[in-house]
Amino acid sequence: MLTIDLSGKSILITGAMGAIAEPMVRKLVAAGATLILVDIKSEEVAKQTLCDWQIPPTSHVYFSADITDSTALSQVVTQSFRRFPALDTVLGHAGGCGLHPFLTTSEADYDRIFRFNYFAQVNLARAVFVQWIERKIPGHLIFTSSYVARMPHTQIPSYASAKAALENFARCMALEYADTGIRVNVVSPGNVAAGSSLKVFDEDPAYREFVRRVSLGRRNSPESIADAFVFLCSPLANEINGQILSPDYGAGIGNRL
Ligand SMILES: NC(=O)c1ccc[n+]([C@@H]2O[C@H](COP(=O)([O-])OP(=O)(O)OC[C@H]3O[C@@H](n4cnc5c(N)ncnc54)[C@H](O)[C@@H]3O)[C@@H](O)[C@H]2O)c1
Repeated sequence: MLTIDLSGKSILITGAMGAIAEPMVRKLVAAGATLILVDIKSEEVAKQTLCDWQIPPTSHVYFSADITDSTALSQVVTQSFRRFPALDTVLGHAGGCGLHPFLTTSEADYDRIFRFNYFAQVNLARAVFVQWIERKIPGHLIFTSSYVARMPHTQIPSYASAKAALENFARCMALEYADTGIRVNVVSPGNVAAGSSLKVFDEDPAYREFVRRVSLGRRNSPESIADAFVFLCSPLANEINGQILSPDYGAGIGNRL
């Protein structure tokens, strides 16, 4: 029998209170990891959510922070390493957008979405790499992207461009840091039946038709995305670097008209 044992491992996750994060948190804790959960939601809200998810309080610590604030993000990373000096896995998972057609999206909104989905991830890498280099930890940074990084999509130009930039940034970092043992990978989900895309799926027949054509007619479960993270966090993936792992039913490779 194959088991994945992450006991003794500490893993930092941003966007940890979201819809896809829920099965990620559950499965990583079930595998024995200790989690450092980071989200913009208040400590009070997070405490209730984690209680609803039945996550044991001994398995995690929580930091409320806005990851688009580079100072706040860097403080969270510093505090996390102080508390967990062997922290070797970081999941840059926070992201998202809502529909924002190009013509009706203000410059400020366009920039805000890009900053959240790209520059905040770059700042996370910057803060984490400093610690890993100083501590000589061959860490593993994993970003969450989306199939829209490779499949152009209407009404989400800032988000899709930011995710495309993120995937290439990840591969650039994988190369640049390879000689330190640090690895950088990406999980790139398809249309997930959770989170912000739920509302669009329920309300927009065109989106439902789109899903039918690009994703074998089905949306991905948040559990399948969590499984990809558990795999990448495990020793089974020790030799994987600079890759885009896509639990997306093939949505990222094209339209099957
Ligand atoms: N849902 C999908 O269909 C889908 C598809 C492909 C990729 N993704 C990606 O998966 C990831 C999670 O998506 P989701 O659908 O679970 O989203 P979600 O909206 O359910 O969760 C996002 C989490 O990020 C937190 N957050 C928002 N702004 C923040 C900030 N400034 N600082 C810190 N935390 C912040 C929110 O509080 C929330 O808990 C994102 O990177 C998203 O782009 C989602």
